[in-house]
Amino acid sequence: MARSFFILYTLSRRRVSDQLRSLFFIPTALALTTSLFILFYISSTSNLFSPHPNRPSHSLHHILQYPDAVSSNVDNFHTLIESQTKESLEFDFLNNNINNNNLEGVEDVGGDGEMLWRLNGKTAVDEIIFHDQDIFKQDYLKMNKSFKIFMYPHNKNDPFANVLLPVDFEPEGNYASESFFKKTLNNSHFLTNDPSKADLFYLPFSIARLRHDPRVGIDGIQDFIKDYIYNVSHFYPYWNRTGGADHFYVSCHSIGRFAINKAEEIKLNVIQVVCSSSYFQSAYVPHKDASLPQIWPRVDDDPPRITSTQRKKLAFFAGSINSPVRQKLVETWQNDTSMSVHSGHLHTSYEEALQDSKFCLHVKGFEVNTARIGDALFHGCVPVIIANYYDLPFADILNWKSFSIVIATLDIPLLQRILRSLSDEEYASLHKNVLEVRKHFRWHVTPVDYDAFYMVMYELWLRRSAIRVPLS
Ligand SMILES: *[C@@H]1O[C@H](CO)[C@@H](O)[C@H](O)[C@H]1NC(C)=O
Ligand SMILES: *[C@@H]1O[C@H](CO)[C@@H](O)[C@H](O)[C@H]1NC(C)=O
Ligand SMILES: *[C@@H]1O[C@H](CO)[C@@H](O)[C@H](O)[C@H]1NC(C)=O
Ligand SMILES: *[C@@H]1O[C@H](CO)[C@@H](O)[C@H](O)[C@H]1NC(C)=O
Ligand SMILES: *[C@@H]1O[C@H](CO)[C@@H](O)[C@H](O)[C@H]1NC(C)=O
Repeated sequence: MARSFFILYTLSRRRVSDQLRSLFFIPTALALTTSLFILFYISSTSNLFSPHPNRPSHSLHHILQYPDAVSSNVDNFHTLIESQTKESLEFDFLNNNINNNNLEGVEDVGGDGEMLWRLNGKTAVDEIIFHDQDIFKQDYLKMNKSFKIFMYPHNKNDPFANVLLPVDFEPEGNYASESFFKKTLNNSHFLTNDPSKADLFYLPFSIARLRHDPRVGIDGIQDFIKDYIYNVSHFYPYWNRTGGADHFYVSCHSIGRFAINKAEEIKLNVIQVVCSSSYFQSAYVPHKDASLPQIWPRVDDDPPRITSTQRKKLAFFAGSINSPVRQKLVETWQNDTSMSVHSGHLHTSYEEALQDSKFCLHVKGFEVNTARIGDALFHGCVPVIIANYYDLPFADILNWKSFSIVIATLDIPLLQRILRSLSDEEYASLHKNVLEVRKHFRWHVTPVDYDAFYMVMYELWLRRSAIRVPLS
């Protein structure tokens, strides 16, 4: 009896101490997982572990401006390769973070930059368009059913109705995405007149229209926005609940990044949906803000020739040479007849050039955003993006590696080799996916499922506040 009691006692003691141990283990494990997660998060979002994103251009400028001053640091580069895993090498390579190495240094590695780019034969092309199609499809349906937006109301008699109301004509020009969004939202089922039902609040000012309003102009935009936020936060109770965190605005004009300089809370809190979504822009906050595709409006149907076989030129670019990157591109490739690289406007048809080329280059100019990616996709040309730290539109949803090639500006001399290294199958896969993603890059005044409007709504939905602060 005593013995069995003793056994029971030791057993239960052991159980208790086991339990205690596991109880201790839980917080430790949690703490460990959390710190790992935080580390992972920091390393994937911040620049603590890599040079500051605003700086790589520095090294590029350095190279472009003083090509001879940078010594061929091949040895350093080899050490770099040996000491890094392939993934981190790829990361560095794509992000142009290999410092103090000039282009010869890169080419010297095994004499084959292409191999480096492919990471020892691994294909650089992904086949799947969505990061996770099932989650996207499910979430999209949820969003479509439940997402509600409150648009601050203005009427036709408002002195700034031209800036605040949707335009009563078909949006046109380079910055049409901005007007299209507002007009389409106004026609959609996402609007609610009941602020208590709203997930997000839309600040409907149009930066492009403010710029052309003689009462405001470029110099007056900052004060206008400041006044507008003052009005919204004093005449309505919603702004103060979150300091603007459940508010958003949409702008395609790059002047937008100066527009908010006198309204600090916009930069800190508001969701900015902008075309000039570059990490180099101090106003843009990746993850909080979202990239808006710049799309030349098209009313016509699909272009006639979009197949891949009729494309005779390897790559096409035309545009003004207003950045060191474009200068480098033109210097390197303008005399190569397989590449169609022009400085300035084309004298022949732009559309034909887009339809005759396998790859169409989007190269950062004075600004990161142009309508070129949209143009390329529309004409079935695979975009090649040479614009470091451009936060690509819908990158939360679409896997850009499945329908485009992203090349670091440092790799411009390797451009042809990289493009030629793709097999026919790889090109066919990219091209097929280009045709499939085109629908996500088109605007319609009355929205069509999965078009640019719905994609922007989805990006907003991902960023909606999970915490609703009740009005006291
Ligand atoms: C989204 O909602 C609209 C309006 O209710 C509807 O016409 C459309 O079919 C919905 N889309 C999907 C994929 O359910
Ligand atoms: C915006 O929506 C309102 C209400 O449906 C409508 O009366 C108005 O005509 C729309 N404006 C434009 C420019 O489409
Ligand atoms: C702010 O409100 C005042 C008073 O209603 C109005 O005169 C002014 O135009 C508004 N400013 C902006 C930028 O909306
Ligand atoms: C919002 O906060 C500001 C600054 O504290 C204050 O002046 C303003 O009256 C508040 N707005 C409302 C509607 O209470
Ligand atoms: C391209 O051709 C022009 C004119 O013939 C010449 O001045 C230039 O140096 C050439 N560029 C290259 C990179 O060969």
